[in-house]
Amino acid sequence: MSIIKVHDKSFDTYLSEEVIQQRIKEMAAEISRDYAGKRPLFIAILNGSFMFAADLFKHLSINAEICFIKLASYKGMKSSGNVVTSIGLEDDLFGKDVVIVEDIVDTGKTLHNFLPKLLHQQPKSLKIASLLHKPEATEYPLQLDYIGFDIPNKFVVGYGLDYDGLGRNLKEIYQLV
Ligand code: IMP
Repeated sequence: MSIIKVHDKSFDTYLSEEVIQQRIKEMAAEISRDYAGKRPLFIAILNGSFMFAADLFKHLSINAEICFIKLASYKGMKSSGNVVTSIGLEDDLFGKDVVIVEDIVDTGKTLHNFLPKLLHQQPKSLKIASLLHKPEATEYPLQLDYIGFDIPNKFVVGYGLDYDGLGRNLKEIYQLV
């Protein structure tokens, strides 16, 4: 265990690089099996999911496409969940098998607000892959099809996740002390 400081807060190691990478390989294998013979489009939600999306994507053994979009919803350590806008969704989703890639589902509000926009385009199927999920924080229940880790309702940083802009570069995931 090692304590790090991000801004004014202390964080303790929670998930090691090895544990994260092993789980992502398992998720990629499961998704590859489920989408065998198909060509899904992965929609990764920036900023937090960039590392997870890259690692998940490189372990897929099927043909797949990926695009990155940005939603605005989070400030500091409290989720506002009000999806203001989505930038970068240029693909037409009609008839496509879509997999949303998220770093973490906390209250569920972000995806709850965003999914109707995607469903409006009539994709053939729509599934959600999230590296982290805080079941105790759920306010907007969602069907999460692929979950890396269910975690306690404590703030985490690292592996793409930030605390006020910092901590994204950490290879491990750290939990607020
Ligand atoms: P939700 O709308 O409450 O589900 O929050 C989703 C978004 O909030 C995620 O995509 C993250 O950007 C952010 N978020 C939620 N929990 C945490 C956390 O513990 N650390 C860093 N970001 C978080």
